[in-house]
Amino acid sequence: MEKKIPEFEVLPRHIGFIMDGNGRWAKMRGLERSAGHVEGAKAFRKIGEYCADLGIEYVTFYAFSTENWNRPKKEVLSLMKLFKEYLREGDGRLAENEVRQMKLRFIGEREGLPSDLLKLIERAEKETAKYSKITVNIALNYGGRAELKSAVKSIAQKVKDGELSIDDITEQTISDNIYTAGQPDPDIIVRPSGEYRLSNFLTWQSAYSEFWFSDILWPDFTEEHVNEILYDFQNRNRRFGGV
Ligand code: FPP
Repeated sequence: MEKKIPEFEVLPRHIGFIMDGNGRWAKMRGLERSAGHVEGAKAFRKIGEYCADLGIEYVTFYAFSTENWNRPKKEVLSLMKLFKEYLREGDGRLAENEVRQMKLRFIGEREGLPSDLLKLIERAEKETAKYSKITVNIALNYGGRAELKSAVKSIAQKVKDGELSIDDITEQTISDNIYTAGQPDPDIIVRPSGEYRLSNFLTWQSAYSEFWFSDILWPDFTEEHVNEILYDFQNRNRRFGGV
């Protein structure tokens, strides 16, 4: 059955999703945590496709933080496997990317990722670079502070090399040297699972973002929840420090 896409007066250009609550979703069902991540990956796909169908231009999913390496080895391995499976899906995923004109981008530190995953990431980015209706950023081995640290390093290098003078460093210089360079900042950041924190997600970019919290666990997230977020968003009065 064809999905009905509601009309909204205002659409955010960029939404960020913190995909939290997979472990609890699994525990409630007597399953292993990895089963929660498998369901979470299905929700990631469904919500990404729905955002594309709605006409949202950028969506960022927090998939693995720089701190997530501290989880049990078994869980880390199951997540890496899930990322690889998604990227290896080949024709199925490519068709989805083509139909929705979906560009895939990975934001985060490349160093430290398994080499086979890295190859798949590079291939997916290359294959989908030509699409421009929606950009789906997958934050993997991502940390907002690590992102700022690497921006500072690359700006410092430019100063050292004489390409940039200290007086010319502006806020825009920082925006231009982070992973999301060229993209609008997230208009709204969504955190389900009853937690009320940002957890090192889009630290610089979230300065003026709206927030949407809920108790829903990420694997239970549906298109209807996205509609709720969008109705809520269009009723918010964003002043960006003005009156
Ligand atoms: C945090 O919830 C979630 C993660 C660390 C992993 C998120 C990753 C996915 C949903 C897979 C995405 C798939 C692709 C292909 C991008 P948690 O498990 O810590 O939840 P808990 O707080 O209930 O334990």
